[in-house]
Amino acid sequence: ARSYSITLLPGDGIGPEVVAVAKDVLSVAGSKEGVELRFREMLMGGAALDAAGVPLPDETLAAARASDAILLGAIGGYKWDNNEKHLKPETGLLNIRAGLGVFANLRPATVLPQLVDASTLKKEVAEGVDIMVVRELTGGIYFGKPRGFGTNDKGEETGFNTEIYSAAEIDRIARVAFEVARKRGGKLCSVDKANVLEASMLWRKRVTAIASEFPDVELSHMYVDNAAMQLVRNPKQFDTIVTNNIFGDILSDEASMITGSIGMLPSASVGESGPGLFEPIHGSAPDIAGQDKANPLATILSAAMLLKYGLGVESAAKRIEAAVTETLDNGFRTGDIYSPGTNYVGREIECRCFCQINN
Ligand code: NAD
Ligand code: IPM
Ligand code: MN
Repeated sequence: ARSYSITLLPGDGIGPEVVAVAKDVLSVAGSKEGVELRFREMLMGGAALDAAGVPLPDETLAAARASDAILLGAIGGYKWDNNEKHLKPETGLLNIRAGLGVFANLRPATVLPQLVDASTLKKEVAEGVDIMVVRELTGGIYFGKPRGFGTNDKGEETGFNTEIYSAAEIDRIARVAFEVARKRGGKLCSVDKANVLEASMLWRKRVTAIASEFPDVELSHMYVDNAAMQLVRNPKQFDTIVTNNIFGDILSDEASMITGSIGMLPSASVGESGPGLFEPIHGSAPDIAGQDKANPLATILSAAMLLKYGLGVESAAKRIEAAVTETLDNGFRTGDIYSPGTNYVGREIECRCFCQINN
């Protein structure tokens, strides 16, 4: 039988809750397809800070690199919010993304027919939305230098960051986005702030240049402020969106809400080679952690992306997606996607999902 090693990074807050269920779902979906998955759990984020004094221990990065794919829950929490930069859980997350070289982050925002009523947008606006946000993940203002704290010429305290992209960084994310768009609806919208920012001017120039390699994909450009507005005005105009690290972070949270909840959105982060990193787009949700309220579906769907994009076992990924559909068809809902006429089951939704795959 085929056998793969998976690194699990539960992290903090609701992270361990949602990873535990995704692990079970992965196991059973794999075994149904004759694929054996071996799991190794490692420390990351606040949990690693408490146990080992750093947010990303060397052993964690080494284990992740040596495995076939990585499933991450979420990191962060009030306890570590005032830590110095290098001792923040979030720094561990940025470092593992950079360490693995996973520069392309795919965040699909798909409105499932069962969840149209869970969207805060009108039915006719939300229905049928199917957007793929391709977010650049290892560059831009998150990593640009110079950065830090200083003093200006008036003697006032300052904080500063640098939004910077090289042509090569833009070219490679653009190629991924064009490939993705080609396999979807054939439309790519590049989102930037090229009316103001030099980094965006180069972004637009390079994306336009790369477009000549993909004559079958229709390219458009949009400023990010307009894109934020268009996403809630008429989201169906979008097929694939490509954008930088920070705009992608913000727009994907916005897009998630069209689908009903941030608790629904999975993601896949991939690089040129090496294992991919799979994680829900949401955070550690400290406000609901430990209360059996977290929606595990974003992580379960991330597990499906792991099987599909990470291991190439699409049949097992389909089993998970079908189980999610079936569970929603049966009316089961967590609080974040509840609507009148459905059945609130809290986090027990995971058992329903598990049973569907195990059938
Ligand atoms: P968040 O995504 O954790 O939570 C935002 C809101 O959405 C909260 O009200 C939360 O209860 C709700 N929510 C999130 N996931 C949910 C789920 N699966 N089911 C139901 N409701 C859900 O964002 P935040 O509150 O801004 O950040 C909290 C912490 O998480 C911070 O420390 C932040 O840095 C961290 N964070 C981590 C990641 C990550 O690990 N990838 C992503 C975003 C934020
Ligand atoms: C995300 C998160 C992270 C990001 C934070 C926690 C560093 O918001 O995965 O979307 O900004 O990338
Ligand atoms: Mn985010």
